[in-house]
Amino acid sequence: SATPEGRGPAPGRAGGARRLRAILGAAGLGAAGRLRVGHLLPLVWVFHYREGLSWDGGPREFNWHPVLVITGFVFIQGIAIIVYRLPWTWKCSKLLMKFIHAGLNTIAMILAIVSMVAVFEYHNARNIPNMYSLHSWIGLTAVIFYSLQLFLGFAVFLLPFAPVPLRAALMPIHVYSGLTVFATVIATALMGITEKLIFSLKNPAYSASPPEATFVNCLGLLLVIFGALILWMASRSHWKRPPEENRRLLAASQKKGA
Ligand code: HEM
Ligand code: HEM
Repeated sequence: SATPEGRGPAPGRAGGARRLRAILGAAGLGAAGRLRVGHLLPLVWVFHYREGLSWDGGPREFNWHPVLVITGFVFIQGIAIIVYRLPWTWKCSKLLMKFIHAGLNTIAMILAIVSMVAVFEYHNARNIPNMYSLHSWIGLTAVIFYSLQLFLGFAVFLLPFAPVPLRAALMPIHVYSGLTVFATVIATALMGITEKLIFSLKNPAYSASPPEATFVNCLGLLLVIFGALILWMASRSHWKRPPEENRRLLAASQKKGA
């Protein structure tokens, strides 16, 4: 049941809507709070256990890679995906929400690109080969598809040129490819974390479970939990933003005190 603005069923049952929204809102806030803490962990990693950050071709430049990619490509992209599904935003106009969704995705893209520049510059400065690992193959593929998704998103859903049937036809593909790239990015991050721990924990080794290993394993676990939460919210029909005509009816009936 594609609508011009998206897909999915009408919300129905306006009676319990307010309570449902309160519950969903509280759950959303709780999740957001937990996630804000989660995205600080890469900073703890690079400052407490690693060399810190700078832009000098050394390991401290490499460290921008995990910090920016987890903050931008995982965390901000995740929030961008579920902004339409936060019940307290349902009273905002669809156009505003599109700007927020597109804007957050653009920020994520910029941070991902800067993080790529950091790791390539680090490799070049040290004469380490580029693009040899599975991590780098999957990661770069995800970045390329993400930029395609961003470009098509702007062209089809934000600019006023695409006709409504085209928008409706492309929306399920937009959602599918968006969620697939997001899941791929989480998998890429897990591979990167594992590589980095194996490369850099020498004495004691990764296999001796030093505190850094346990800490960063937990960071990886949190990335999986974050991803699972985002995919959950993005796939439940009751979190779906009500289609525009239903929102108008609901607002009118509430004004009348019904
Ligand atoms: C989640 C999104 C990520 C993407 C898209 C991504 C992408 C990439 C790419 C394209 C390279 C190749 C750079 C080159 O060959 O010069 C690379 C290298 C690397 N990344 Fe990531 N990365 C991600 C996350 C992470 C994370 C969270 C870590 C954890 C520290 C990490 C650790 C590494 C390491 C150690 C290398 C160098 C070894 C190699 O080339 O595989 N990456 N990454
Ligand atoms: C790489 C960037 C992007 C990604 C990863 C992405 C991903 C997604 C995902 C996963 C959804 C489903 C969300 C849901 O069902 O609630 C979605 C919905 C949507 N996206 Fe994007 N998107 C991107 C860029 C854009 C851009 C630039 C626009 C332009 C405004 C856009 C417009 C929309 C619209 C209109 C919806 C439907 C919202 C609804 O069903 O209420 N997207 N996007």
